[in-house]
Amino acid sequence: MGISGKRIVLGVTGGVAAYKAAVLTRELQRAGARVQVVMTEAGARFVGPATFQALTGEPVFVDQWDTRIANGMAHIELSRAADAIVIAPASADFMASLAQGRAGDLLATLCLARECPLAVAPAMNRQMWENPATQRNVQQLRDDGIEVIGPDSGDQACGETGMGRMLEPDALVEAIGAWLAPKRLAGRRVLLTAGPTFEPIDPVRGITNRSSGKMGFAIARACVAAGADVTLVAGPVSLPTPWAVRRINVQTAQQMHDAVHGELDTASAAVRAHDLFIAVAAVADWRPANYRDSKIKKTDGNAVPELAFAQNPDILASVARRAHPPYCVGFAAESESLEAHGLDKLARKGIPMLVANIGHETFGLDDNELLILEHGSQTRLARAPKALLAHELVRHIAERLS
Ligand SMILES: Cc1cc2nc3c(=O)[nH]c(=O)nc-3n(C[C@H](O)[C@H](O)[C@H](O)COP(=O)(O)O)c2cc1C
Repeated sequence: MGISGKRIVLGVTGGVAAYKAAVLTRELQRAGARVQVVMTEAGARFVGPATFQALTGEPVFVDQWDTRIANGMAHIELSRAADAIVIAPASADFMASLAQGRAGDLLATLCLARECPLAVAPAMNRQMWENPATQRNVQQLRDDGIEVIGPDSGDQACGETGMGRMLEPDALVEAIGAWLAPKRLAGRRVLLTAGPTFEPIDPVRGITNRSSGKMGFAIARACVAAGADVTLVAGPVSLPTPWAVRRINVQTAQQMHDAVHGELDTASAAVRAHDLFIAVAAVADWRPANYRDSKIKKTDGNAVPELAFAQNPDILASVARRAHPPYCVGFAAESESLEAHGLDKLARKGIPMLVANIGHETFGLDDNELLILEHGSQTRLARAPKALLAHELVRHIAERLS
């Protein structure tokens, strides 16, 4: 991830969402950052500096006339020491200041004096966000290369519902991680599948499998972090959509097949073709052949219904067979002879890379162990959290793409 080992100045300005900045501080630290908090005077009215000082173990700066820094120039020293500055929450007033290049207080001055990247997480009521002046300022910030993360829409402290809420701390950490990560897939379009499929027998019953979708969603996140434009075709899972990922929900293998090819068909003279297809979904090989429109009734006695099966389309092989296929990566969950079955699948599907889950009991778990099979080489990724493995895998794939 992009956060580990980074020194981040967290600027807290005057908005109600300042209370979330304390949780954000903790989450950034958990992701491996050293956090230095700087607040505006208005920010310090919402949450006291003592809270952040206790969380970070570092003095909190508010006043530009603070003499605790030896040369008396806190704004220079703090911005020099930072790898990145994140303003969360960023008030409408503070963004106006930034857009104009004002240096009215310590936080604004250190933003102006910075040499490191700067991101803002706006937080304000709906009308303030929609005001043309705020929209002008946000556009100016983007034009100046400042990252604008969010806002989100939903319930607001003022009782309104709409756009302007600050992203929740966990989503912010994800977005900050993506923003700071090396951009190995910059400019690339990636299509992924994840989760199980669900093959209905009748309106209330169906056949599915134990895929949780966690690995596929982690890879989608890692691709975003690497700078890719990501579309995720997801089977039925209850996982939240990763930040900046476009998600298409499907149920059956046939729907997944159609959604994938529909996406690949969008390439045109104006729309770049997909560079990479990663098939992580556990797609059902067969579906019940005769779907019943109404629930199959339980009959008296011991009679059980007979189920006949029909073959589902092979999504990965069909993508690999397209006239101009993207670089195709498949996933395999074998219960035995992993390597032999994996190599066989690699050849059968006509793809350059297959990733095998080592141990088939990883469904739903947060850890995994992977074996990357390619023609003529194998790479083992040791047991680790799926989020970490996803980043390693994406690094590996990016090398092949380049
Ligand atoms: C109770 C209260 C809540 C406020 N909430 C917000 C807010 O969520 N977002 C915002 O942009 N301004 C909000 N404001 C207004 C800012 O606090 C005000 O513009 C302040 O001058 C911002 O200063 P700063 O940008 O230096 O932090 C609020 C003001 C009050 C009194």
